[in-house]
Amino acid sequence: MNETVTVTEAKAVKVPTLPDAQTVTSVKHWTDRLFSFRVSRPASLRFRSGEFVMIGLMQKDEKTGKEKPLLRAYSIASPSWDDELEFYSIKVQDGPLTSRLQHIEPGDQIILRPKPVGTLVHDALLPGKRIWFFATGTGFAPFASLLRDPQTYEDYDEVIVTHTCREVGELQYGHDLIESIRSDEMLAELIGEGFHEKLRYYPTTTREESAKMGRITDLMRKGEVFEDLGVEPLSPETDRAMVCGNLAFNLELKEMLEEYGLREGANSDPKEYVVEKAFLD
Ligand code: A2P
Repeated sequence: MNETVTVTEAKAVKVPTLPDAQTVTSVKHWTDRLFSFRVSRPASLRFRSGEFVMIGLMQKDEKTGKEKPLLRAYSIASPSWDDELEFYSIKVQDGPLTSRLQHIEPGDQIILRPKPVGTLVHDALLPGKRIWFFATGTGFAPFASLLRDPQTYEDYDEVIVTHTCREVGELQYGHDLIESIRSDEMLAELIGEGFHEKLRYYPTTTREESAKMGRITDLMRKGEVFEDLGVEPLSPETDRAMVCGNLAFNLELKEMLEEYGLREGANSDPKEYVVEKAFLD
């Protein structure tokens, strides 16, 4: 009996794992550092807005010469009701994956492991009145999904999304998305016209002149964000937050949220805020 099991296991190990291929349907380059793309969606894939999957390309192993998948975590930027999946990515010229991924074209195949996970989900937060989505750079991606999820507007009276980037051009993806949501008749039909008033967008830049300059963390410390939006500073009674950006930003904001009295939640233990690192190659 034991022997049979061992043989079966040995065989299973030898069989190469076939990558889960999906086809690229469109690609858009936003700046020389940023691009987004859409791929076919596996028929069986179900996910919660804000979750990520592992995606990538095949790569030759230097030692063995065999092809193997090179995968990275990518937040799904499209809403869970979409027929396709959308991703928003940085281009790192010497990055192992994005140096190649940035050249994909419609019709190409990528690998997509259909096992969505992540902490930026509604289930990880306790009910509240106002939700803040704090993003830097490509950290906007999970919010692009959550902002198109009817539950976001059903659960909260106010939805504030802040996006800090170095340059104005890096805000375009988020800006266009917000515009498309505001004119989305289907969303309005799903959740009622009132959702337009709930959605507040607060973009800032740090290295190029724009209407609002500065890191969101500094603008919060100065109270400027709250003045601009006409809301009270965050409080654990009313406010919930999701954070997604570069590591330094996540750590700094996490500390600030704790100072406001919010506690970090998880799927199994919902609280007042959650954090996830944006993908960096
Ligand atoms: P800054 O230009 O002052 O570094 P990156 O492209 O490096 O990921 O950064 C994206 C944005 O996040 C930039 O505008 C950057 O501002 C900002 N940022 C970086 N670190 C922090 C931090 N600790 N707190 C707030 N914002 C940050």
